Amino acid sequence: MLGNFTYSNPTKLYFGKDALDGLNAELPKYGKNVLLVYGSGSIKKNGIYDKVVKILKENGKEVFEDGGVMPNPTNEKLNEGIERARKAKANLILAVGGGSVCDYAKAVSVSVNCNEDAWDKYYIRFDDVTCDIVPVGCVLTMVGTGSEMNGGSVITNHEQKLKIGHVFGDNVFPKFSILNPEFTLTLPRYQMISGIFDIMSHILEQYFSGEDDNTSDYIMEGLLRSLIHSADVAVKNPNDYEARSNIMWTATWALNTLVEKGKSTDWMVHMLGQAVGAYTDATHGMTLSAVSIPYYRYIMQYGLKKFSRYAINVWNVNPENKTDEQIANEGLTAMQSWMEKIGLVMNLSQLGVKAEMIDGITKSTLVMDGGYKILNEEDIKAVLKASL
Ligand code: NZQ
Ligand code: ZN
Repeated sequence: MLGNFTYSNPTKLYFGKDALDGLNAELPKYGKNVLLVYGSGSIKKNGIYDKVVKILKENGKEVFEDGGVMPNPTNEKLNEGIERARKAKANLILAVGGGSVCDYAKAVSVSVNCNEDAWDKYYIRFDDVTCDIVPVGCVLTMVGTGSEMNGGSVITNHEQKLKIGHVFGDNVFPKFSILNPEFTLTLPRYQMISGIFDIMSHILEQYFSGEDDNTSDYIMEGLLRSLIHSADVAVKNPNDYEARSNIMWTATWALNTLVEKGKSTDWMVHMLGQAVGAYTDATHGMTLSAVSIPYYRYIMQYGLKKFSRYAINVWNVNPENKTDEQIANEGLTAMQSWMEKIGLVMNLSQLGVKAEMIDGITKSTLVMDGGYKILNEEDIKAVLKASL
């Protein structure tokens, strides 16, 4: 039952080994001043920075730099970026990096022409954008978040112990994104695996909701099977272009608004993971892997039919002579073994969480109502304790 919805995705994608050539087609559409946003230096080491700057110069652009965007970008860095974009009179913000850099670029883009405090406006009050947006383009170097084709923008406030995502409308989506799987080959293994689980989690957050027959669920089962297969190949041989390119493409489709259509969607794993992130600054995908199995075991009974379907269609559990509960449990066990096999973080202690932090993390966890169970404070504490 798909219901009523509007669907459009304005991001133009350039995919493959020649994708960076797409910049030559895109840059003439924007004014002279480009704010080049990047992280802590990986693009300088692997040569992507030089390639991008060369193309910008060839297209007659004035390049203004905003480097040093940290993983899990902060509100302080955001305020700095807004100032830089204003001084540069930026006509285009070009994000070269992973989800953190792309998210940050979007947060800058909606704040440059706005006088209010960006954190309060977008991350506390969740206000709509009321000022002119500076367009964003993205050259992706880390795969997982889907930020290259969505309106998501997550900012961390360490002082307030909050990590919050604002999902902006399609006017804030990157106008274009360059997806060259070769650009991801220099990623450390830890980041590659973290990104793989981020993709899996995005799909599951949307899959585990509703009881109706919905095309979106079939698409997601296909994406999951492709992801598991390619992840197995990439973990054995990270330089396997075929596997890395499939993972990149799956990441984009996992969170570019298509598969959420007709779904209420859960997102509690992300709310728990983000609260953990606010306390530990841990790598995003690993905060999700640490809480996923305890969370799913906790809510499984409320969505038994779907968990049983997941076990059969994604993990090849044989359903013969078994109850839904047995099938569902076998599915989660198969998922857990696979997660352990590819090297994911499986508990919060490994991320530096201590028992005495549970109360605080519980308070920082936003509660969503689209999944199989609406968690109360005690539920959240129980899941976090089981994840320690
Ligand atoms: O900073 P640099 O030097 O670039 O290093 C980065 C960073 O240390 C490194 N890296 C990236 N590409 C590389 C590379 N190292 C070597 N070679 C390359 N090609 O990887 C590290 C992690 O990068 P980051 O951008 O932080 O990772 P990710 O893409 O996972 O982004 C995480 C952020 O995105 C948010 C997360 O909460 C987190 O803040 N999310 C955004 C979403 C969205 N926009 O829809 C949804 C997600 O659920 C997520 O919440
Ligand atoms: Zn995520």
